[in-house]
Order: sequence, then C-alpha cells, then structure tokens
Amino acid sequence: MTRRLPVVVSTNYKGGVGKTTTSRVLSQAMAAEDSFNKGKPVLVIDLDPQGNTSRRWQLMQTLTDGSRIPKAHPALADEKVNYSSVCDLWLELLGEGPSLAPVPYVTSNPMIHVVPPHEFLMGEAMHIEKASRPKLGMIMRNWLRDVGAAEGERLADRYCCAIIDTQPSKTTLIDAALMAATHCYIPFIPEPQSVDGVYSIISYIHSLSAQRGKDVPLEMLGLLPNMVQNTRLHNMHLKELRSHATFGRYVMPVKMNRRIAYSETDDWRNLPESVTELDGTQIEWEARKWCRHIMQAVQADVMEKANA
Ligand SMILES: Nc1ncnc2c1ncn2[C@@H]1O[C@H](COP(=O)(O)OP(=O)(O)O)[C@@H](O)[C@H]1O
Ligand SMILES: [Mg+2]
Repeated sequence: MTRRLPVVVSTNYKGGVGKTTTSRVLSQAMAAEDSFNKGKPVLVIDLDPQGNTSRRWQLMQTLTDGSRIPKAHPALADEKVNYSSVCDLWLELLGEGPSLAPVPYVTSNPMIHVVPPHEFLMGEAMHIEKASRPKLGMIMRNWLRDVGAAEGERLADRYCCAIIDTQPSKTTLIDAALMAATHCYIPFIPEPQSVDGVYSIISYIHSLSAQRGKDVPLEMLGLLPNMVQNTRLHNMHLKELRSHATFGRYVMPVKMNRRIAYSETDDWRNLPESVTELDGTQIEWEARKWCRHIMQAVQADVMEKANA
C-alpha cells in the first residue's frame, strides 16, 4: 500500500469569485496545520495563464511582448530553458520537444511550493486538436498519481496535498484539472449573478465523475460562500440556496466573509503573509474553520494499492 496524494481543485467558470484567494488561504492553512501536513509541504499548481497565484509568490516575469512566463528556477540555472511550468508535462503533446516533470518553486513559506503557468504554452494547450484534449488531463493525472515515478521522486511522499487554482472560463485546462483531481470545491458569491452557472458546474462535475471508471472518485467538497456580507440580499440568497431541494446539500456549512485582510494578504509585500497568522482575530477563526472543514474531508493519509 502507498499513500495517495490528495489533489484539490478550486473552480468556477466565473472570475472574481475567490478561486485564487480561497486556494491561497487554504494552502497557507494546510502549511500551518502540522496534524494535516505531517511536515510535508503543500504543492500549489497554478493552472490559470494569468498567473495570479504565482505572482502572489513572485514567481512570474513579463516578457517584452507582454506575455508571462515563470522566473528563472535556481535549480535549472545550467539548463537551456532555465524555468519550469506546469506545461512541461505537455511539451511533447504540443510539439515542443520531450516532456518533463515540472520542478516546483520554493516560496517565502517553506511549506508551500508552487508550479507556475506559462501563458503562451497554455494558449497552445487550450487550442490543441480535439483528439488530444483528454491527453492533457491523463498526463497530468499520471504525474500527480506518481505513475512510473522513481523511488524518492514520488509526489505523494514529498507533499501532503496538491491544490490546483483554475482560470475563469470553461477550457480544456479545467477539464484536465478535474481529471487529475481527487476533490473539488466551488467558491461563489451569494448573489444572483454568481449563483447562475454554479448548478451547471455541479452537474458537469458529476458527469465527469461518472466517467472515471476504476480511477479514484472525484469528490465534490461543495460550494464555498465567499465575500459574504451581512446584507438582506446575501442572507436571503444563502438561505434559499441552503434549502434548495437538489443543490442545498452542496452548500458548505462554512463561509468566508468579505474582509479586507483577505485582499491585503494577497499582496506579497504585506505582513503577516497569511490570515491564519492573525492570531485570535475573527478572520483567523473564520479562515481556520472553513479550511479545517476541507482538510477533514480531504484526509491527507488515504492509502491505496501501489500503481501497477
Ligand atoms: N472574502 C474576501 N474578502 C475580501 N476580498 C476578497 C475576498 N475574496 C476575494 N477577494 C478579492 O476579490 C478579488 C477577486 O478574487 P480572486 O480570488 O482573484 O477571484 P478569482 O480567482 O475567482 O478570479 C481579489 O482582489 C481578492 O483579493
Ligand atoms: Mg484567479
């Protein structure tokens, strides 16, 4: 029996609902929770070509043509390409030479390692011919499931959990993330415009889950209410959602309120880095509560039969 790496995806086809913020706060909470991480870092994969997560950790550079690529990686100084991105997995599929395993970057938090995006190569991946699309997810899944990984190189031995941040539109890259995921959650704002579409994502995720065959099931962690304000509109909307006959059970029993500290900690120049370091404050309590809810559901120490 070997340990399976949990892979949590934050997704919603809408932008500005908190995919990046919630996944960042979750990674920081996991990194701070010894009973969850057991001393192993969190692996954050930035699957949004905009690279907001990676920019938070100062891992991106902008080329003169305006496109974004990862910064030089200290361990790759002697290589022809001196950076690494999640697209390294797909180089062969994209006709860009042999594929490589991404080399995660160490961040200012020693318990958080990040694999950044590559804007141009992601553009190529999103427009790959139809027949090759499922391969994006299969290759990513095999990497995260340590298929063929050498002893000592297994991600499940090196990391406690992987978290994937996704882009705000329905693309082949999100399908790839959901194919590689073991768990997913959907942050949303309890307002009519944000709730629209969430139901169809849930149905879509269920259909993907049903197609998995013998692979581990994709567990839906649920809808995470974000930027909640104590207004009549938000209260009414949350109440209606929670009592919805079909979808009510998907709304998580936790929430994130709209608080300036979430956006302040988005800026790498601000200290503390994480809201979970704001000891004894309401926000620290709130963030720990919803993050613990997810950590409990994810159970970092799931064991499975070794990959054949
Ligand atoms: N709970 C919150 N309270 C206050 N600001 C928030 C909260 N969640 C997200 N934000 C801010 O809202 C903006 C959009 O959030 P982001 O996580 O980037 O959304 P997405 O990744 O879904 O596009 C960011 O500026 C972020 O700092
Ligand atoms: Mg984002």
